[in-house]
Amino acid sequence: MTSAEKLVLSTTVSESEQDSNSFISPGIRIDLDELPRYSIWPARLLSDTGSVYEKTKAEILREFDQEKWNELLIRLRSSPVRTLEQLEALMFFASSQMAYSIAGEYYRSTPFAVNHIYKRFLEHELRRADDVTCIAELGAGAGNLIMHLAKNTQLAKTWIAYELTESGRALTRMVATTEDLPVVAEFLDFDDPKTLVPSMPERTIYYSSFALAYCKDPEGFLESLIGAKAKEIVLFEPIYQFFDETTLSGLLAKSYFEKNDYSKALFPAIQKLAAQGILEWDAVKKNGFAHNPLCPISIIRLWPK
Ligand SMILES: C[S@@+](CC[C@H](N)C(=O)[O-])C[C@H]1O[C@@H](n2cnc3c(N)ncnc32)[C@H](O)[C@@H]1O
Repeated sequence: MTSAEKLVLSTTVSESEQDSNSFISPGIRIDLDELPRYSIWPARLLSDTGSVYEKTKAEILREFDQEKWNELLIRLRSSPVRTLEQLEALMFFASSQMAYSIAGEYYRSTPFAVNHIYKRFLEHELRRADDVTCIAELGAGAGNLIMHLAKNTQLAKTWIAYELTESGRALTRMVATTEDLPVVAEFLDFDDPKTLVPSMPERTIYYSSFALAYCKDPEGFLESLIGAKAKEIVLFEPIYQFFDETTLSGLLAKSYFEKNDYSKALFPAIQKLAAQGILEWDAVKKNGFAHNPLCPISIIRLWPK
């Protein structure tokens, strides 16, 4: 581990911190020109053949259920240790450096350290909410983020990892059992919001991390969440409309987003529901963090009215 990584890992979130990134010591600064050394995407976008990675249901299930989460599940099952630490070691172990960004500045570090920084972001934002009974992640993947929160914070008594894929839910169940965490994994398909658990606790906070980008009808889905006892909805999602096409990085982000067929409908849905008086919203950090500098996520908070 480099000294910069030790610095990253030694930082802790202080509850008194204001809306800044001061709780994070990032890795080593790089500039836009250096990105191709750490990501295949600039070269891929610049040699664009016009192909699009369509996000059909079959394609989503191939990528996550059959490949990413299932491969991880096989590896975790064959491991003598099935802790959260082991899950994260399997997910983020790589000695190579990756590029990431914080508030538009580019850095490089190992995947493990970048994941650590991202968890700080999540924790920092979710700590703003009080008087919460339940926290539910929408599209929780392997469940590593929600299990980190459940293990390290007292923010809620009940934790629900909603996820489309069987393999993702199986990973969450396996690790939550080992760690004795109060996290349950439930099936959810954004395209069929009836699959939300019918009797959600009062004062539930829903959050999503790079998942509603896969939702085909965010307006209908957000309405369902509001009907499912949402006290607040916190989105950590890439927002197409926040990419600035007067900058090179903004143009690259738009191009990446289009090529990957993510949903552009999330922000217009938020605006429409706000105009109808159904919710209020605040964009807390536009393009605040990026595991992939070509696709920064923004943090948006929504409150049902
Ligand atoms: C990029 S991963 C993010 C996982 C996790 N939230 C994180 O940040 O590490 C996107 C997740 O959304 C899930 N997903 C995609 N489409 C979905 C749908 N229609 N309903 C529910 N989950 C879905 C995928 O299975 C995948 O686990």
